[in-house]
Amino acid sequence: MNEAYQPDHGVAQDGAQSLLEADRLCVEYRTRSESVLAVQDLSLIVREGESVALVGESGSGKSTVARAMLGLLPERIARITGGSIVLTGQDVTQYTNDQWEQVRGHPVAMVFQDPLSYLNPVMRVGRQIAESVKRHDRGTLDVRGRVAELLELVRLPASAARAYPHELSGGMRQRVLLAIALGCRPRLLIADEPTTALDVTTQAEILSLLRDLRQQLGMAMLLISHDLGVVWEECERVYVMFRSRLVESGRTREVFASPTHPYTAGLVKAAKAARNSEGRFETIEGEYSTTTDSPLP
Ligand SMILES: Nc1ncnc2c1ncn2[C@@H]1O[C@H](COP(=O)(O)OP(=O)(O)O)[C@@H](O)[C@H]1O
Ligand SMILES: [Mg+2]
Repeated sequence: MNEAYQPDHGVAQDGAQSLLEADRLCVEYRTRSESVLAVQDLSLIVREGESVALVGESGSGKSTVARAMLGLLPERIARITGGSIVLTGQDVTQYTNDQWEQVRGHPVAMVFQDPLSYLNPVMRVGRQIAESVKRHDRGTLDVRGRVAELLELVRLPASAARAYPHELSGGMRQRVLLAIALGCRPRLLIADEPTTALDVTTQAEILSLLRDLRQQLGMAMLLISHDLGVVWEECERVYVMFRSRLVESGRTREVFASPTHPYTAGLVKAAKAARNSEGRFETIEGEYSTTTDSPLP
C-alpha cells in the first residue's frame, strides 16, 4: 500500500501548456502538540484552458493543496517538506513572501468559500476591486472603467461598487471576490469550495457564471469541491484525495463511471443517492452510456 499512486493527468490537448504542476508535493503542519502530514506525494497538473477538479472528504488536504499553490500556507506552522510546485514553468516551491507577491493574482488567482474573511470590512467593494487592478494590471490607465467592466463581467450592478461587504448577500460577495481575482487577469483560477456557503439557487448562478467566464476569458480552473454533481458538470478531469493522498484521477466521466478506489466508489454512490431526488446525478449514467462511443471531452 506504500507505493506512490501514479496519477493519470489525461492526454494533453495539442500544445496545451501546463500552467500548474505539483510533483510529489508534501505539506506538514507542526503545532506545539502535534505534527500533521496534511498532503503526501501529491502530483497534479492543470493545463491552459482546462477545468480540473480536486475532490475529497473534509480534512483530506484539499485546501492545503490550494494554499500551497498560492504561497498562502500559514507561516511558521506549515512547511512544504517535499516535492515541488511549478507555475507557468517557474519553480515556486521555495518562494519567499516577496516573491509570491509577484505571482499571486497573475498568473494564478484564487477564490474561497468564505469571501467575507478575505474582504476588507471597512472599504467599499469598488475600491477593493480597484486596488487589485492597480496592483496587478499596471497597464490599465482607466481604473474606474476597468472596475465597471469587472462588475459587469461578474454580473453585479454598478451600484455595488459603493457598498461595503456586509451590505451584500453571500452570492454578491462571492462575485466581488471573483471580480478582484479577475482584476489580476489570471490564466488559472483556483476556486476552493466557492459555493459551499451559498443556497442552492445562488450556487447554480455562481457556477454558471464561472463557466461563462472560463469560456469568455479562456481561463483554466482548479475547482475544489465535495459535490460530485458539480464536478461532473463543470470539470473535464478529476483528482480524488483521501487522507492526504491522491487515490484516483482521470477523465471525470471515466472515473465516475468506473471508480477503482473504494473511497471514490463510495463517494459516487452517495452522491448519486443524494442527487437522484433532484434528478441531476441520474444523467451521469444516462449521459455516459450515450457518449461512450464518442470521444470524451
Ligand atoms: N492551520 C492549521 N494548523 C494545523 N493543522 C491544520 C491547519 N489547517 C489544516 N490542518 C490540518 O490539515 C489537514 C487537512 O486540512 P485541509 O487542507 O483544510 O482539508 P480539506 O480542505 O480537504 O478539508 C487536516 O487534518 C487539518 O486538521
Ligand atoms: Mg477545505
